Amino acid sequence: MTSEQALLVLGIETTCDETAAAVVERRADGSGRLLSNIVRSQTDEHAPFGGVVPEIAARAHVDVLDGIIAAAMNEAGVAFAGLSGVAAAAGPGLIGGVIVGLTTAKAIALVHGTPLIAVNHLEAHALTPRLTDAVEFPYCLFLASGGHTQIVAVLGVGDYARLGTTVDDAVGEAFDKIAKMLGLPYPGGPQVERAAEAGDPNRFAFPRPMLGRQDANFSLSGLKTAVRNEAGKLTPLDPQDIADLCAGFQAAVLDSVADRLGAGLRLFKERFGPPKALVAAGGVAANQAIRRMLREVAAKAQTTLIVPPPALCTDNGAMIAWAGAERLALGLTDPMDTAPRARWLLDAGATAPAKFANTRAGF
Ligand code: KG4
Ligand code: ZN
Repeated sequence: MTSEQALLVLGIETTCDETAAAVVERRADGSGRLLSNIVRSQTDEHAPFGGVVPEIAARAHVDVLDGIIAAAMNEAGVAFAGLSGVAAAAGPGLIGGVIVGLTTAKAIALVHGTPLIAVNHLEAHALTPRLTDAVEFPYCLFLASGGHTQIVAVLGVGDYARLGTTVDDAVGEAFDKIAKMLGLPYPGGPQVERAAEAGDPNRFAFPRPMLGRQDANFSLSGLKTAVRNEAGKLTPLDPQDIADLCAGFQAAVLDSVADRLGAGLRLFKERFGPPKALVAAGGVAANQAIRRMLREVAAKAQTTLIVPPPALCTDNGAMIAWAGAERLALGLTDPMDTAPRARWLLDAGATAPAKFANTRAGF
């Protein structure tokens, strides 16, 4: 297989709490086109528990995946026999869900004699701006969702260097935990952002974790504890207390993330020269205050900020299909005995920070 021909790829995403499938076309010139993108979020199933329950997630994927794939193929107007490849996220993620998606992709590949591409979910986030904005390598990715917080140098397909990661919570996870602590519904990020708008960010003196460090790692558990302590002193909380706590928390996150990204971009330049862009992905990039901060950070580093549209920033099938197409164009396919993986670092040589093993965030 070479990139001389247009490729049609089905992508399947089941690593967390979205069941998703999409079909993309990758043209010979390397540009991409989205033919369909179907996402079913499991938020309602998990909301009563205040977070994602792995067993419920896996069962829900089994229940709906076939229908989601059929809808994606239908909308794209493509038959299985017309596919150049079938891609599934093979990790990292909740293993039950990963098994459902990867096994389904293998079945389609076997029945139709189609190449299988086992995609790293993080690689798919990393390559999405090439589908949406045709961004050229190398660029700097800031990935911040409920499950991941990473700064990654994206140097080429399959060529990544992780510049920073969290040593405890992911940024979105911290937003969710603060929301839960303050009695706001799940998922907490948008709730905390909304509450913060009516709050005073200076009422509490919250710490700015990791500020000024040379490395580009993140830490959010100390800040979370500080918020918990202040909230504990005020209980019962009135709406203004909640607004002020959210505003103070968000302001501290903004300062810390801006500093950490500054460090990441410095490391990027030292090692790889100036990046073509700073790209933000993951649900946290939906936060307007975070976006304003990202624009400032990019301007300071004399680079352009690119944020794919929200539907392609959060988990979706199009990113898996696109990463599959980029790999397929290079002849990179995978055997039928490819194993699903709960953990899968993007850069093979990376070593994990000390506390990494106990978190969702570092995988
Ligand atoms: O990428 P995503 O949809 O799913 C994964 O985690 O894989 O990200 C969801 C995360 C949640 O933690 C959610 O609270 C956070 O992104 N999030 C936000 C906002 N919208 C979503 N965090 C802060 N502010 C927001 N407006
Ligand atoms: Zn994700």
